[in-house]
Amino acid sequence: MRAIVVEEPGGPEALDWREVADPEPGPGEALVEVAATAVNRADMVQREGRYPPPPGASPYLGLECSGRIIGFGPDTGDGTQPTGGWAVGDEVCALLSGGGYAERVTVPVGQLLPIPRGVGLQEAAALPEVACTVWSNVFMVGGLRAGESLLVHGGGSGIGTCAIQLATARGARVFTTAGSAEKLDQCRELGAAVGINYRDEDFTARVKEETDGAGVDVILDIMGGSYLDANLRALAVGGRLAIIGLMGGRTAEADLGRMLVRRLSVHATTLRSRPVAEKAQIVSEVLTHVWPLVESADVRPIVHRRMPLADAASAHRVVESSEHVGKVLLQV
Ligand SMILES: NC(=O)c1ccc[n+]([C@@H]2O[C@H](COP(=O)([O-])OP(=O)(O)OC[C@H]3O[C@@H](n4cnc5c(N)ncnc54)[C@H](OP(=O)(O)O)[C@@H]3O)[C@@H](O)[C@H]2O)c1
Repeated sequence: MRAIVVEEPGGPEALDWREVADPEPGPGEALVEVAATAVNRADMVQREGRYPPPPGASPYLGLECSGRIIGFGPDTGDGTQPTGGWAVGDEVCALLSGGGYAERVTVPVGQLLPIPRGVGLQEAAALPEVACTVWSNVFMVGGLRAGESLLVHGGGSGIGTCAIQLATARGARVFTTAGSAEKLDQCRELGAAVGINYRDEDFTARVKEETDGAGVDVILDIMGGSYLDANLRALAVGGRLAIIGLMGGRTAEADLGRMLVRRLSVHATTLRSRPVAEKAQIVSEVLTHVWPLVESADVRPIVHRRMPLADAASAHRVVESSEHVGKVLLQV
């Protein structure tokens, strides 16, 4: 098969489309012929050599894909061959630990999802990573309920566009930050009630103003260190902060006094390094709670641009420039 290989850690020019060995599915894994994958911010960090794949994962980039099942791994030694109810020929999309930037990829069967009705096969590659990250952090960890409020940082990101739609569809009031008026307009079209341009507004002050001084119940944060203090000040009593990205650094000081008096909690998670069983649990919840909203078009895959996988370098340049809203798809 062909795959995108990182020659030497570095810039987008390090990405090379070339012939490599086919992957071999292990017990409990399916072999998928990839129709499309999508760019995630983490791919850039892996390309630069700063986010190595977890043990046992594919060496290639790509945290999600869509495609068709073309085989399964061998039986588990007890005469059974777990397929999770899937069959050769099924069209699927999948949450991956890596390997999506290739013509074929192996995936534990618990990380496969059906293509939602109304979504194209290639378009579906834009969904697994954002749906699983947003569901697991905003709802499983953050416990966001209807009638509560959510602040989504970076509303124009792949993650942000999914979080805005999903939280709105489940009855929350959504606040979001972004770096331009155009992105904020698009976030409002997706359902955000309040858009805050982080370049010229203090988001904590604006959140307080919009909530009569109370603050928001849950924050989905991609900045980490640089936003920690401001996030804690923007939370309501009992508020929950879910940190999923460190674009603003990994260290910061926190006012623990504010946290205990206001009963705040801070969570930080990453999806990729979770055990297979935990990923299967998240995928199963996404199928139950998110897929119906995708099929009713309340939550849509937001695709900024479709590009050939062979030209992943150009796609990385697009995402690095942050000109996009939603996802950049890479089609095989
Ligand atoms: N922990 C996990 O399991 C997990 C899983 C998936 C993704 N993530 C993380 O989630 C983040 C988003 O991922 P993605 O792939 O969706 O990224 P993306 O599409 O590349 O978006 C990144 C966004 O960050 C925004 N941004 C930059 N500086 C900002 C600031 N100071 N305040 C608010 N927004 C700012 C940019 O928009 P502007 O033009 O508005 O600046 C851009 O829209 C990344 O940090 C990624 O690593 C974590």
